[in-house]
Amino acid sequence: MEPILTLDRVTVRSYLEAEAASSLAEDVLDGLTRPFKELPPKHFYDAAGADLFDRICDQPEYYPTRAERTILQLQSGEIARLTGAAELVELGSGTAAKTRVLLDALRDAGTLRRYVPFDVTENMVREVATSIASEYDDVEVHGIVGDFERHLEHVPDPVDGEPRIVAFLGGTIGNFTPGSRRGFLRGMGSLLGDDDHLLLGTDLVKDPAVLEAAYDDAAGVTAAFNRNVLRVVNRELDADFDPEAFDHVAFFDREHEWIEMRLRAQRRMLVPIRGLGMEVAFEAREEVRTEISAKFTPERLAADLAAAGLDLVAVLTDPEERFALSLSRPAGPERPPGRFHR
Ligand code: AVJ
Repeated sequence: MEPILTLDRVTVRSYLEAEAASSLAEDVLDGLTRPFKELPPKHFYDAAGADLFDRICDQPEYYPTRAERTILQLQSGEIARLTGAAELVELGSGTAAKTRVLLDALRDAGTLRRYVPFDVTENMVREVATSIASEYDDVEVHGIVGDFERHLEHVPDPVDGEPRIVAFLGGTIGNFTPGSRRGFLRGMGSLLGDDDHLLLGTDLVKDPAVLEAAYDDAAGVTAAFNRNVLRVVNRELDADFDPEAFDHVAFFDREHEWIEMRLRAQRRMLVPIRGLGMEVAFEAREEVRTEISAKFTPERLAADLAAAGLDLVAVLTDPEERFALSLSRPAGPERPPGRFHR
């Protein structure tokens, strides 16, 4: 495939194109014809949704972004030391705001050679790729525009077989249901050689009131983010959802230990989705599940990683223990779990 952008030290390749829309069509058709309606969270993130998510991160109730940044600020040197990484592959790189802390540490350690941002939003990948290349002398950037659930195989081989970090930050692993979570962890594990590490961000189980406030901020930004998926469907599939006719619902499911977001119809309605040639009926108060965001205990994190063939090397938390960044690596028979070898 031809690169869509090539500059000195920067390449960006896209694997999306028309596929993106068709995945939305399939997901909407499948999700809204189920007995319990649902829409997958990946469709939140058009340009407006990405902006809303950035604003969520600035809300006082939404602590995960700040907690993860604190961990990176306190522990990036340690991550650089433990990994010796020449390369950072970042899945769901977004604006790479927090990533720079880690890139700085790898540069200061003298090992950094390449950054591989991977995201669905083409403009973000282009912008991040060019700005990182200009901020970091001699660092190569290989940007990938794609869906990390389908295009992981397009991550390039490591530079000269040197150690790398594959990072999946922000707690986005929590959006996967438990079974597909392990499948995805295994997929990320397949990008790792013996000297490579997975750096995974996971939100931690805590007081439900704190969790629920984080997903229902007083300013209503998360509510707007939730409703935005209906605007995406309206635009892409020529549908007639009235986003304001749906209430934002967010609650902590104590049994599954995940936050669930839903949109609840305020009244009975029949919504045309012309792009799919159908109409979807809603009962008054009927709900559409739009996201689960799993919260972890250290035990469950270790169990999920182990099930995906990964050994935990280190679990790093913020001082208030709200969030965890873990380093893990492929389990090898010759390496006792949890001990670090280089
Ligand atoms: C970007 C998936 C980590 O689950 O906390 C924020 C998305 N949803 N508020 C999360 C989100 C509602 C966020 N992730």
